[in-house]
Parts: sequence; structure tokens; C-alpha cells
Amino acid sequence: MMRILILVALAVSLHATIDQKWSSNKNCQACHQKISKSWETSRHSNSHFTKNDLFKKSLEYIVLKNPKMVLEEIKVDCARCHNPRIAKDHLRTDEKILLALENDTTKEEFQDMLNAEHMKNGINCIVCHNVDEIHLDKGKGSQGLGSVKFGVQGTMFGPFNDAVSPYHKTAQRGHFASDTPDLCFVCHYSTKNRHGVEVYSTGKEYDAGSNGNEGCRDCHMSEKKDGFASNYAKADAKPVPRSVRDHVFASVDNSDILAKYVSIAVQKVENKVEVTLTNNSPHRVPTGYGLRELYVKVEFLDINNKSLGKDSKLISAQWKDKEGKATIPHEATSKSMDTRIDPKASRAFMFDIPEGAVKVKYSLGYRLISKEMAELINVEDPFFLREYKTRAQTQAL
Ligand code: HEC
Ligand code: HEC
Ligand code: HEC
Ligand code: HEC
Ligand code: HEC
Repeated sequence: MMRILILVALAVSLHATIDQKWSSNKNCQACHQKISKSWETSRHSNSHFTKNDLFKKSLEYIVLKNPKMVLEEIKVDCARCHNPRIAKDHLRTDEKILLALENDTTKEEFQDMLNAEHMKNGINCIVCHNVDEIHLDKGKGSQGLGSVKFGVQGTMFGPFNDAVSPYHKTAQRGHFASDTPDLCFVCHYSTKNRHGVEVYSTGKEYDAGSNGNEGCRDCHMSEKKDGFASNYAKADAKPVPRSVRDHVFASVDNSDILAKYVSIAVQKVENKVEVTLTNNSPHRVPTGYGLRELYVKVEFLDINNKSLGKDSKLISAQWKDKEGKATIPHEATSKSMDTRIDPKASRAFMFDIPEGAVKVKYSLGYRLISKEMAELINVEDPFFLREYKTRAQTQAL
């Protein structure tokens, strides 16, 4: 036992850890204030299980359903994309045994590794800007840290070939300088769960459904605009003007991306209203995490603006386990339904017009997780339980 313990201690300590100087966006904030603030609004800054109730509850649910697995094992596996600067990419058998036996020393070592400051900081500056090379095997899908080679710590890779910083070295890399989706595909291309079921496939959808030139940044960061990469300048100098993008990594919860790129057309067809959604994005909508829900919502009004009733249609996917019961994507053995709208495609939804209606109000609703699945795995954070809505519009009938 003692020998195993020593080996474990060695294995953990031998792996490179992230130097304090680069561990958090707080280290960058003084000179990259705007970028740092806008990154903080993104889901990338909340990808650690201590900051994301849905992720945390998913991990716990997986252990509950698989008593032979230990929580740390799953955390390490998921960290490949959710926290890819993790010091190890898998557990050895002896480590797993010690963890299952609740060995204090081993538990503590994993605690320290999984909760290191740079891990808690999420998919942060040092995750993306330390990526030297990308080796994505599309056949295997995204492997997160397994799809990249990180550079030496202290060199920040970026879009410019002439950037000079007093705090760090800089170097240009093509995956920043050109608008290819390669960097995003390190994690967003596709991935399968333990049962071989594909649970995310944004990049695959993009390859199949778009012209391949759109990239991801115009919509999820911003279009290129005049600004500054850094607010820092030497005493008698000014910051260098640059063409830059925002670091919002826009999603439904921190931006108006849904209203901007999913268009709605409404027309009366005999005694029905036809609502047509057009997905102007190069991936399916909703894409990504498999329990997102998009709702087309209508409300009919009479001549006095009194409501005559509401109706809605759901666009989503559903997942089931081997007993045929509804479950979360990571536990599914198959997908039981998928009505998500293909890239660049339109879909029409018909609604009956009630007697006396003269107007229809319409909007989109969006949930990060279905109510039923939130209940199943006990998600409590209101951020995940609320409905996100676009501004309602009205049309005469
Ligand atoms: C190291 C892996 C990784 C890389 C690289 C990466 N992402 Fe992400 N991204 C994630 C993970 C994991 C999440 C989910 C985080 C969470 O919700 O806890 C996420 C979330 C997002 C979201 C928010 C979706 C939501 O849940 O609301 C958007 C948008 C996004 N990423 C876009 C991008 C774009 C664009 C790029 C390329 C410039 C990129 N990502 C690069 C792993 C990555
Ligand atoms: C998910 C990956 C990702 C993360 C996380 C990320 N960046 Fe970036 N960053 C990019 C991409 C992609 C570009 C290139 C944008 C473009 O096309 O000009 C970029 C560009 C930059 C630039 C050059 C100026 C510009 O806007 O083009 C700076 C400086 C920078 N990032 C700093 C940071 C800092 C500081 C953080 C942490 C607060 C951070 N980045 C987090 C992907 C990322
Ligand atoms: C003391 C100020 C300072 C600090 C702290 C700082 N930077 Fe920078 N950084 C700069 C300056 C100045 C530039 C060059 C700006 C320019 O040329 O437009 C720069 C450029 C960059 C670039 C672009 C590199 C390129 O070649 O395209 C990236 C990426 C970057 N920094 C990331 C970071 C990250 C990540 C951190 C935190 C770990 C950080 N910086 C901390 C001042 C700083
Ligand atoms: C034309 C604009 C557009 C482009 C280009 C685009 N997206 Fe999106 N993306 C959207 C819209 C709109 C949504 C919100 C609807 C949804 O959830 O699918 C979205 C949602 C997402 C989500 C979040 C889904 C969630 O769970 O909240 C991710 C992740 C994402 N996109 C990744 C990407 C990646 C990676 C690329 C490049 C390969 C890309 N997007 C290109 C418009 C775009
Ligand atoms: C191959 C990369 C990769 C791996 C490995 C991975 N994920 Fe993810 N995960 C992502 C990406 C990318 C997103 C963002 C997609 C989106 O938001 O639509 C995400 C989003 C999520 C979300 C939604 C988070 C939110 O804030 O809404 C959950 C939950 C999740 N993953 C659970 C897991 C679990 C549990 C594991 C391990 C069993 C895991 N993931 C492993 C890439 C990965």
C-alpha cells in the first residue's frame, strides 16, 4: 500500500502545473480589461463544476447510476474539455482503487488537482491562448486537451505578428489570425458518451450544413472592429490601435443571438397561423448540449387586446436509457427524438386561430435544460430553470 501511495504522490506532482502568473483572468485584467470583463459574462468562465450546477448535478447523477465509477474518474474525463489545463488526463487503476477505498491522501491529491485556481477559472485565457498546435482527428471527434499541443507557459499566442507586451512573450498562430473554426472544434466538433451515443455535434453540423467559410466568431464573438488589444501603454505612449473582436462567446443567456440569427415570419393561411422559423446559423438550432429547448410561442388577442389563449411548439431532442426511460445525454443509450432545425433550414409551425382573434403575438422561448430532466437530476440554480425569451412581436390577422 505504501509503495502505491508514493507512486501516486509522485505521479501527481510530476505533472506541470500552471504557474500562478497565468492561472486566472485576474492576471490579465489590468492590461486586457475589456476582454477580461466580457469573457466573465460567458459560459466559458463557468465551466468548472463549482460554478455550474447543471454540470455538477450531471456528474453526481452519472456516479449514482454507475456505482462502479468514482466521482473523480468522471471529473477527470469531463475536464478534457471543461477544464483542459488539468494535470492528468486519466486515472490509473491503482488510483481508482485508492479512491474507491476512500483513501484520504489520494482523495486530497485529487481534490487539490481538480480545484486548483486555474481549474476553477474555467475555459480561461490560458486555455485558448496557450494553444500552440491543433491536431483534431475529426473521425474521433473533439478530445479537448487531447486535440492540442500547449506551448511553453509565458508565451501568449494570438492573431498579431508584432505584438509587444511587458508581461509575457507573444507569438502569432494561424488558428487566431484566420477565422477558421479549428480552435473551437478542439471542444465543439463532436463527442460521444460511454455508450457511443453522440451528445454534441456542433462542428459536424457545421461541416455538413454550411459553406464552411463563416467561422464562429462573427456571431459568437463580434465582427472585427477598431479597438485595442490591450489598454496598457508605456508612460509617454498610447495603446496600439488594432482590429479586434469581443470575448463574449455569445449564447442565449448573455446576448441577443437568438433574435439576431433565428428569423420568424408569420402569415395567415385560411383559419390558421403559419409561423416559419429560419435558422441562419451554420449549425442546428438548438445545437450543443442535448437538452436545450427552443419554443415557438403564440398568443391570440381579440379586438380589446384581451388574450384568447396561448400555444407553443417545442424544438428539441430527447434521450433514453436501456430501459427506455428518459435520461440525460451522458447516460443515454439512444436518442428517442430529435426535431432540431438543420443549418440554414426553415420550418413552419401551424396554429389554430381561435374565434374572434384579430392579432397574434409571437416570440421565441429557450430553456437550457428541460424541466423534467432538471427535476430528474435535481438542478436548483435558477439560471438553468428560467426561460429565456425574445421580445414579443405582434401581427394583425
Ligand atoms: C477547451 C474547450 C473549448 C474551446 C477551445 C472552446 N469552447 Fe466553447 N465551450 C466549451 C465548454 C465545455 C462549454 C460549456 C461551458 C459550461 O456551460 O459550463 C462551452 C460553451 C460555449 C458557448 C456557450 C454555450 C452555452 O452553453 O450557452 C459558446 C457560444 C461557445 N462555447 C463558443 C465557442 C467558440 C466560438 C469557440 C472558439 C473561438 C469556443 N467556444 C472554444 C469548451 C470549449
Ligand atoms: C475560447 C477561446 C478563447 C478564450 C477563453 C480567450 N480568448 Fe482571447 N482570443 C480568442 C480568439 C479566437 C481570438 C482572435 C479573435 C480575432 O479573430 O481577431 C482572440 C484574441 C485575443 C486578443 C487579441 C485582440 C483581439 O481581440 O483580437 C487578446 C489580447 C486576447 N484574445 C486576450 C484574451 C484574454 C486576456 C482572455 C481571458 C480573459 C482571453 N483572450 C480568452 C479566443 C479566446
Ligand atoms: C502588463 C500588461 C499586460 C498583462 C498583465 C498581460 N498582457 Fe497580454 N498584452 C499586453 C500588451 C501591451 C500586448 C500587445 C498589444 C498590442 O500590440 O496591440 C498584449 C498582447 C496579448 C495577446 C496578443 C498576442 C498576439 O501576438 O497576437 C494575447 C493573446 C495576450 N496579450 C494575452 C494575455 C493573457 C492571457 C494575459 C494574462 C495571463 C495577459 N495577456 C497579461 C499587455 C499585458
Ligand atoms: C450566423 C451566426 C452563427 C454562426 C456563424 C455560428 N453560430 Fe453558434 N449559435 C448561433 C445561434 C443563433 C445560437 C443560439 C441557438 C442555439 O442554441 O443553437 C447558437 C448557439 C451556439 C452554441 C450554444 C448552444 C447552447 O447550448 O447554448 C454553441 C456551443 C455554438 N453556437 C457554437 C458555434 C460554433 C462552434 C460555431 C462555428 C463552427 C458557430 N456556433 C457558428 C449562431 C451562430
Ligand atoms: C469533447 C469535449 C467534451 C467532453 C469530453 C465533455 N464535454 Fe460537456 N460540453 C462540451 C461542450 C463543447 C459544451 C458546450 C455545448 C453547449 O453548451 O451547447 C458542453 C456542455 C456541457 C453541459 C451543459 C452545461 C451548461 O452550462 O449548460 C453539461 C451538463 C456537460 N457538458 C456535461 C458533461 C459531462 C458530465 C461530461 C463528462 C462525462 C462532459 N460534459 C464531457 C464539451 C465536452
